Order: sequence, then structure tokens, then C-alpha cells
Amino acid sequence: MKKDRIHLKAPGNWINDPNGFIYYKGQYHLFYQYFPYAPQWGTMHWGHAVSSDLTEWEHKGVALFPTRYEDQNGCFSGSAVEHEGKMYLYYTGIHYDETDRENIHKCPGDKYQATQMMITSPDGFSFDNFSGKKVIIPAFMEGEKGDRTHTRDPKVWRGKDAWYMVLGTTDQEKQGKILFYKSQDLENWIFVNQAGKEERGWMWECPDLFEVQGQTILMLSPMGILQEENKEANHAVCMVVEFQEKDCSVGFPDTYQFLDYGLDLYASQSTLDEEGRRVVTGWIRMPEAVDGKWRGMFCIPRVAEVKKGHIYFHPHPNIEKRFTKKITSPAQAHEAGYRLTLELKEGESLDIGGYLISRRNNCICTDRTRVFREHRGWRQTAVSPEVKEGDLLEIYVDKNLIEVFINRGEYVISSTVYNLGNKITADIEGEIQIDTLE
Ligand code: FRU
Repeated sequence: MKKDRIHLKAPGNWINDPNGFIYYKGQYHLFYQYFPYAPQWGTMHWGHAVSSDLTEWEHKGVALFPTRYEDQNGCFSGSAVEHEGKMYLYYTGIHYDETDRENIHKCPGDKYQATQMMITSPDGFSFDNFSGKKVIIPAFMEGEKGDRTHTRDPKVWRGKDAWYMVLGTTDQEKQGKILFYKSQDLENWIFVNQAGKEERGWMWECPDLFEVQGQTILMLSPMGILQEENKEANHAVCMVVEFQEKDCSVGFPDTYQFLDYGLDLYASQSTLDEEGRRVVTGWIRMPEAVDGKWRGMFCIPRVAEVKKGHIYFHPHPNIEKRFTKKITSPAQAHEAGYRLTLELKEGESLDIGGYLISRRNNCICTDRTRVFREHRGWRQTAVSPEVKEGDLLEIYVDKNLIEVFINRGEYVISSTVYNLGNKITADIEGEIQIDTLE
């Protein structure tokens, strides 16, 4: 089947969130929200890809698809864990109250019920969709802990004395929140606690809670966190929280970071790599299909680290190591892209085939106007917060995605692009190093 280098891309048609990201029996498994019939969102399946080292992905086709009443209209996002050699997948089953007669993939009035479900696999490749699925948390009724419709995206992890699950939901005041559950056997789950914070969006999608260097990071994709007219309002955020495992209580900080200041990245998910690093990937939204064929890709797997209370995301070392061949022009690059390494000082600028990067007022600014058509809900420019120290930029350039790592991941700006040129012009003092794959 099809192979992708560096970035996992839709094997055709549509993908969105990464799901069930896990290092299992010597391989990385990465599942994804997949609509196999057209390059647009529709009834969700889980597509599946595997990799030995996070740099190349082999597509394995469909892993999960609707078979039961509860997931008749889609297998929504979720996660994976390993226990006694088996792979456990958790996801949200969707059942529409009514179906749009003209398009069965759509739900009129957004009225549907969400059920939390699981399925196990002995080897990570075979999934018994017809008789292996179990309901673990039935859809909520009116007035219960969570919303009947908007409760989804179970992320499961092993804690000190039990298995834990975090789910995203919304409350009666339409504030996003998370629910925590606990289990001893991975099948029977009891509710433990809930947590939320005002003015952080109305529904929290794809929550993920994990430890890095003794600190707990909460990553979320809140809906409606930014309210600019005609611009996408849903964005992935992260923050260092105070988390107590015994009662699943969360102390929220006053501020949050965007995972990526390009604001194209959404629905991120993390796992531990072979060596215990915390690796994060996320869906890169694309407004149009490439050549009318495929739409949606994932960012480079990024390692999360906390330095002085700030969360850094830099490319996984396995990715960095693939860029070994020095070249002098993008025309000589491998089809999987190239990396530019340079220092960008105040007032300097760079043009990568039509994508502009400059440094102004100590912020890194990007402008894709020349390599991205106008689309309602999409912005052409991005700005990082003020960069306090260091001028280093590491820029990974793919045909449809540019990822700018500022100061070893203090901030990242990633942008979807189309029809990128092959010429680089720079108005900078220092040298530019270009590396590509062998
Ligand atoms: C996030 C999301 C999830 C949901 C999935 C459906 O992009 O909306 O909350 O499970 O996508 O495809």
C-alpha cells in the first residue's frame, strides 16, 4: 500500500484527527479519522498507518468502520493503550437522531447521541468490527454529567493505581469541560471528576493529559476559543496544569499557549515513543484537496518539553536525522521536502517560493497570500508571540506544508500552502543551510 515520508497524508479523499497513536510491539501505529469516499468530511472510519521510526508511514487501509446501532453514523476520535500484549482502542460511536435524506453523512440540526466504545486487537492489525465492539459509557441523558451529543474523544492512559480516561464535553452553560473516569480492568469505568474553565470555548474536543519532566500538560482543542469574524474559531491549545491523580482534580493556569501559531493545526494527540519521549502529532487542516484527490495531513511528530513553565515542541530526533544531504537549491530536494536552517534577525525577511517569513518587533511573522487562495474562515498571515531569546529558525518545507520551528520549538508556525515555488530569496545577514533526505 501507499507510503508517506516525513508527513502522513490522506491516502486519498479525506482525513482529520490522529487517533490511537501508540508504540506497540516494536512499531508506531497511527490511526486517523477517515472518510474514504470523497475529499470532504463524512461518516467517520478509522484509517490506519504504521511506521518503524516515525519518519515513514505505510498505509494499512480501514481499521474501524460503522457496524453497530451506536456507531452507525461514525467512529469518532479516540486513543489506544496496550495491556498484556493486546491493543485496546477507545472511540466515540455516533448515532444521528435523524438523517438528511439528500446526504446521509450529515446530521440535520446536529442532533445525535455519542456513546463511548472500545474494541481490542490481538496484534494491532485485526479488528473484529462485527462482534468485537463494546459500549463502555452509554450516551448521557438530559441533566447528566455530560452532554448527550457533545461528549467524545476518549484518551486513556495508565496511572499509578488504575487506568484513567479523559473525555471532552460541554456543560449546560455551554462552557467546555472534561470528564475523568477510572477503571481497573479497561472495560468497567467509573466517573471520578470533572473540570473546566470559563472563556475557553464552548466544547473541548480531543483532550489529552500527560506528564513531561514531572509536570502535567493538558492539551485540548476547544471550539470557539477565538471569535474573529469569518475566521476559524477552533484551535489546539496546551497548558501546564496542577493535576491530582487520586481525585482527578485540575488546577488551571490563567493563560494558555497555542500548540501552533499558524492556527491550521487541530485535534492533536500524544503518545510515548520507544525511548519514553512525549511525542505529539496533529491534523493540519486544508481548505482544498490537492489535485482534487486528497485533503488533510499530519504535522511532523514533535517532542514536547517544558522549560521554565513554557511548553516547547520540536521535531522528533528521528525526523531531524533524516535530513542529511546538503543541497544549494530546493530544485535539488527530495520529493519529501527539505529543511532550511538560519538565523533571522530583527528586520530581516525570507521568501520561500512565495511564502514570506519576517521578524518584526521580535515576533516571527508569516504571510502565505501568494501560495494560498482566499477562503472564508482561513487567515493568510500568522504572528508568533514575542521571541525572547535566540534567532534560530528551522523550517521544514513540504509541497503543501511549511513548519517553522522558532528557537528550538519555543513557538511553531505551520501553514498549509498550495503551488509553492522553488526559489528562495533572502534578505538576511547570515548563511542559510539547506538539507534534504538521501
Ligand atoms: C475534532 C473532531 C472530534 C471528533 C472528530 C470527528 O476535529 O470534531 O471531536 O471526534 O473530529 O471527525
